[in-house]
Amino acid sequence: MLSGKKILLGVSGSVAAYKAADILRRLMERGAEVRVVFSRNASQFIAPLTFSAISGRPVLHDDFSSSDWGSLGHIAVTDGLDLAIIAPATADILGKAAAGIADDALSTALLATNCPLLIAPAMNTRMYGNPIVQRNISTLRETGARIVEPETGMLACGVEGKGKLASAESIVDAAVKILAARCDLAGIKMIVTSGPTREYIDPVRFISNPSTGRMGHAIAAAARDRGAEVVLISGPTEQRAPDDILFLPVTTAAEMRQAVSERFPGCQVLIMAAAVSDFRPAVALSRKVKKDDAELVISLERTDDILKGVASEKGTRILVGFAAETHDLLNEAKRKREQKNLDLIVANEVGSAGTGFASETNKAVLIDRAGMVDALPLLTKQELAGKILDKVGELKANQGV
Ligand code: CTP
Repeated sequence: MLSGKKILLGVSGSVAAYKAADILRRLMERGAEVRVVFSRNASQFIAPLTFSAISGRPVLHDDFSSSDWGSLGHIAVTDGLDLAIIAPATADILGKAAAGIADDALSTALLATNCPLLIAPAMNTRMYGNPIVQRNISTLRETGARIVEPETGMLACGVEGKGKLASAESIVDAAVKILAARCDLAGIKMIVTSGPTREYIDPVRFISNPSTGRMGHAIAAAARDRGAEVVLISGPTEQRAPDDILFLPVTTAAEMRQAVSERFPGCQVLIMAAAVSDFRPAVALSRKVKKDDAELVISLERTDDILKGVASEKGTRILVGFAAETHDLLNEAKRKREQKNLDLIVANEVGSAGTGFASETNKAVLIDRAGMVDALPLLTKQELAGKILDKVGELKANQGV
């Protein structure tokens, strides 16, 4: 199942370090080639010899003078990796990985990896709950790392709580899942738009909407993970741009239209998840309007419809749009799909709890050109991104893109 996969197993200085030997054994049993790297303190808890005996390879540790991996072992050990796992991950290595600090064999090697990262933390429950540790975990998640949460149980310090290293089985399962991820969009050039646009009334006031960019950013990250070459064009959001994509920030609908039309000829898939403003003030004032001088009416004009604008050049490209509706969801979505010549429309209700703008989850219906209507259950935006991309993968196969 993992045969031929090259995995780095990072072991840091925790009482749970001995459990990493079991993780190593399980990875080896599944056919992986595992290279073990110790943090500076790991060998206080367990001997490298255990790991070199099981893996059949020298362990890279902090003894720079005698490294069997060569004088630049921290680079050599990361060449051609499919996955890096840190198990157990202490608060120290989480902090170093989140901050980009490289001061021992493991933290230095981690900076040189360009493969998915799986982290299984283990520590005292108060340390785990510390907001700084949690912030470091969030930072690592945002940069694409997957976390196997620790379990609740009796800890080495004699306290019962969350912080116990997850079971070797669940860590290896998570690794298998990451490595089995599909690469069905390999080589596809995809544009994803995300977030709201802002249409300025004057330099300090604008018309916008509550889009957070979560949906579009989740699609961009998932498409990247499935092998697509992604350009993410996003209005202003708090979301971090995913790594390894081309990120083009824009502010207004006109800027987004310009960025999309410039890139459109070179793409095979366009997914318009952005909540583009349909109106802008007819006149944008260059100075802040004083309230005593303000007109109480703002004249608006329509912005260009970005999807309609590229429709004439569609060719074999796959176009995906969203329809955010408060009423008559299906009919409105079907009408928009037809009007905008879309291959797929993602219809979602806005205005109810747990779905739509600024929510972690979304309840959507997928409608395609052939009339397929797939009403999905309430999903996280990441899960929904996966469903949309499954459909794009099918359309791609059918349309020979
Ligand atoms: N869209 C676009 N350009 C715009 C407005 C919307 O490309 N100026 C895209 C959105 O990104 C979305 C789809 O069109 O993928 C539908 O957007 P929505 O706002 O729901 O529909 P509208 O076409 O604006 O129609 P209406 O305002 O009548 O609901």
